[in-house]
Amino acid sequence: MCGIVAAMAKREVADILLEGLRRLEYRGYDSAGIAMIDHDGGLQLHKYSGKVAILEQALALEPMQGGIGIAHTRWATHGQPNALNAHPHVAGNRLALVHNGIIENHQALRQQLEADDTAFLSETDTEVIVHLLAKAVNGGATLLAAVQQVIPQLNGAYALAVIDTENPEQVVVARQGSPLVLGVGIGETFAGSDTLALRSVTDTFVYLEEGDVAVLEVAGYQLFAANGEPVERPKTRLEAEHESQVLGDYDHYMLKEIHEQPARLADTLALDPLDCTVFGPRAAAIFGQVSAVQILACGTSYHAGLVARHWIEQYVGIPCQVEVASEYRYRQSVTLPGTLIVTISQSGETADTLAALKIADNDHIVGRLAICNVDHSAIVRASDLVFLTRAGAEIGVASTKAFTTQLVALQLLAANLGRNGALSTLNNERFCATLRGMPDAVAQVLALEPTIKAMAAHFTLKHHALFLGRGIYHPIAMEGALKLKEISYIHAEAYPAGELKHGPLALVDDDMPVVAVAPNDELLEKLRSNLEEVRARGGELFVFADEAAGFTAGEGVHVLPMPHCSDMAGPVIYTVALQLLSYYVALAKGTDVDKPRNLAKSVTVE
Ligand code: G6P
Repeated sequence: MCGIVAAMAKREVADILLEGLRRLEYRGYDSAGIAMIDHDGGLQLHKYSGKVAILEQALALEPMQGGIGIAHTRWATHGQPNALNAHPHVAGNRLALVHNGIIENHQALRQQLEADDTAFLSETDTEVIVHLLAKAVNGGATLLAAVQQVIPQLNGAYALAVIDTENPEQVVVARQGSPLVLGVGIGETFAGSDTLALRSVTDTFVYLEEGDVAVLEVAGYQLFAANGEPVERPKTRLEAEHESQVLGDYDHYMLKEIHEQPARLADTLALDPLDCTVFGPRAAAIFGQVSAVQILACGTSYHAGLVARHWIEQYVGIPCQVEVASEYRYRQSVTLPGTLIVTISQSGETADTLAALKIADNDHIVGRLAICNVDHSAIVRASDLVFLTRAGAEIGVASTKAFTTQLVALQLLAANLGRNGALSTLNNERFCATLRGMPDAVAQVLALEPTIKAMAAHFTLKHHALFLGRGIYHPIAMEGALKLKEISYIHAEAYPAGELKHGPLALVDDDMPVVAVAPNDELLEKLRSNLEEVRARGGELFVFADEAAGFTAGEGVHVLPMPHCSDMAGPVIYTVALQLLSYYVALAKGTDVDKPRNLAKSVTVE
């Protein structure tokens, strides 16, 4: 989703802005642009549809100079992903602005501006902001005052940065509903959509709060709260940059991140699994009151929640509801007394999850827990308890290691809720041994990579695929289907295998590969019957089966023998195999594995 970088420095900033955009590429985007004020006070602008590399080539031919600038990667919402709609947007030769978010009342504002003879160059919602600012500065307001006057007129979400050729000493930034962080250097100040964008220039950050406006200057920054009053926010110093952003010998971040899973799971498991303070100092007090759980999440994180429901209901014995945040936020729901709200989000910025968390605020709630991969993110800051997964920065848009570390976090949650509620049927020793063995079990699955790659070749010419699983493996089948559609663009659906005969069986023929998740559990024989129904109709089966489940390969039946595991380790282990399947299908199809079309890593608009 849109990414912002802004810089105010004594030195040249074009390369800093470009590097920031490169570091934001993982969020997903379809055009990129940069605006700077040159040493003679003139506004320079470059913006193109397509990748940051195109912008980079243009700058190599026509370099930009100056110590002040703003840059942007756009993920189109209003108007096509072309150069005219790309940011920065300008008002005359004076102002340039970048924006992440959606201005919901842009049509009304546009009509008012057009009635006053303002000419628009783009179809975007964003352009109204720069013209409103131009009116204010042309009327005599300073850039800061203009921003403070205009933002109350905007409905919706924004993080924005603006420069003014009449004031080449300041960049003004503001945020409401979309992420923005200041980067503090010596003799230079920056802003970015996340800290990753700025890690090459600083390790010191200030997280802006809702409604904050900041002025970036060479000597530092001024910060104002939504009420216009000066305000101080804490400075956070981050540790040395993780190796996560280095591709190394891998062809894609997704493959690297799949292979990192044993290490990242081990990092997450380095915590004492039965010490509830890993969820925060108030965890013991809050967990002691919990008699129901409501999980809210989107995408892959939602699938983690669906898996957790099985663990929580089976091992803790309390009701657990799971809902996609974009539905929950607009629905009149009934909250059970003693509910713990659990949000799951790799980015911590997903607009729907954040909004759902905020509306889930009533007398029945005993606390809000965020399971998240990004410290200081909006969802983390809006929660009472936090479990930070230790996946490291995930660059591939399709989530892999963030998902499996979420699963481990949710296991720890089940274990800790169970202990306090005295309802647990979890055997602590067995549980801890399973957790300790998880990185090795994942490594065993990674060793199956050549076989999975060969299996993937059968999918490249297909247009559809069906994924089947039962019980706790149904959400794993859903995650397998999501991965395949995200990166290979093959239409894939997941069904609980028992539902097969209620519809999807009609689709099964020799052109419909059917992937089955088949652990050796109490539902195995039921699943086996479901798979017979597929074979009887000519469907080609790809069975990811426990090696002891007794599946044999034959005509139309491909079997991947998986290590034996419990219902605690199994969801992680089968997921890794399905991740590899999707990766190799996408690789063979030649799609952009790390940045699939139309998708974004960090979905900061609704
Ligand atoms: C996007 C990402 C997915 C992610 C989903 C939810 O669609 O591409 O990988 O699962 O958002 O994001 P979150 O950051 O809240 O987990």
